[in-house]
Amino acid sequence: MPIKMEAPHTVAEAGPSVAAGQVSPVTSQTPRREAARGFREGNGGPRMDWIRQLHDHMPDAVFFIGDRHRISACNKAAVALFGYEERELIGRKIGFVWRPTPDIRLNGRWADEGAVRAGLAITKSGAQFPTALTIIRKHDEKGVFTAAVFEDFRTEGETLRQVRELQLEIARLARVTELGEMASTLAHELSQPLSSIAAYSEGCGRLVTGKRPGRSEELREALLEIKRHALWAGSIVQNVREFAERGASERTPEAMHELIHKAARLALIGSRRKDMHTDFQFEAAQDTVLANRVQIVQVLTNLVRNALEATECVEQPRIAIRTAVDSFAHLVVDVSDNGCGIAAEIEDSLFRPFVTCKPHGLGMGLALSKRIVEAHGGRIGARRRTESGSVFSFSLPLVEIEADGERPDDPSRR
Ligand SMILES: Nc1ncnc2c1ncn2[C@@H]1O[C@H](COP(=O)(O)OP(=O)(O)O)[C@@H](O)[C@H]1O
Ligand SMILES: [Mg+2]
Repeated sequence: MPIKMEAPHTVAEAGPSVAAGQVSPVTSQTPRREAARGFREGNGGPRMDWIRQLHDHMPDAVFFIGDRHRISACNKAAVALFGYEERELIGRKIGFVWRPTPDIRLNGRWADEGAVRAGLAITKSGAQFPTALTIIRKHDEKGVFTAAVFEDFRTEGETLRQVRELQLEIARLARVTELGEMASTLAHELSQPLSSIAAYSEGCGRLVTGKRPGRSEELREALLEIKRHALWAGSIVQNVREFAERGASERTPEAMHELIHKAARLALIGSRRKDMHTDFQFEAAQDTVLANRVQIVQVLTNLVRNALEATECVEQPRIAIRTAVDSFAHLVVDVSDNGCGIAAEIEDSLFRPFVTCKPHGLGMGLALSKRIVEAHGGRIGARRRTESGSVFSFSLPLVEIEADGERPDDPSRR
């Protein structure tokens, strides 16, 4: 809000004859009353000395304006602020040390008080800085008494500048963090298809050099797998980019049970445990959700991969994926394992980025899964199993498929 300003010429025409040394104090009510009494009792005397002393203790620069709008006296703060001795200022006009700058806005607290102007103070050494000038005038039977008070806005300007710099820095750091998270997410998500591609390529190499009959068919299938994983990696890159940009992406009705099969296959491909027991318990009668296929498969592969890693040290590893419909028409997916269980020290921060207990873990899988599930209008959580191991669950709103095959609305975007 721009401050309310007095017309520029007011200062220069600060009233008719005012005797040098006549003062009009400025800030609190007490000095104002004292000054008024001082004026009534005439110039000089103990009262005036006291008023002068009072002004010398004020932090703001005060000029007393006398005859022909000339400076008749000033306080110590004025000497300190402008760098002139009092004798160098006496007889000058205010314009000697100050010029108005109507385009500068000052702190709004002055706005209702009237005679306040924004301007630049000009010191003896030529330095310029923003100030607020307040003109205080008192009319009484002896004449008009005028004082000019300058408030130094350098520190406030500096504080504002620092706040602006800090805001810019915070915005920059947020971008860096986002970029870092995005890079980590990509690294995390791409590691799966890339290691599968590497494993299949190695297999292809063995097939080429081996002498087994029927290898061309095996080779063709392995090459097809490589192609599938490469395409999958490409769609992950595309999705992470879209997700980082918009937080949401294209969704279509998807059958969750099919996505679970696909994700489990993807996650288990790299597993070295041939004794892994996988149990699918699809109890949900409906399984259509409006989803971004790639993202929901990412969530599922993250959960299954975590379950695989949690069961590495278990004799008979077992992963169960169960679906059900809850009373809020949400499809609930539970991924449970009989692994090591959730470490107590990270129980409360499981879904935060970069929280991991694994020596080579990134701690991005669950954080990203939470973001994806919530962007789809669902919830995700984890609990310990009563037996050993843990259960990670997420829910997504179910959608009705219209009889005429029309695409339903996205409930999370309503
Ligand atoms: N099924 C699970 N059983 C036990 N702990 C788990 C399970 N899934 C996740 N966690 C814990 O949560 C942490 C974070 O998982 P995640 O975000 O996927 O990152 P990362 O797998 O890279 O460590 C893991 O390091 C692990 O300690
Ligand atoms: Mg993980």
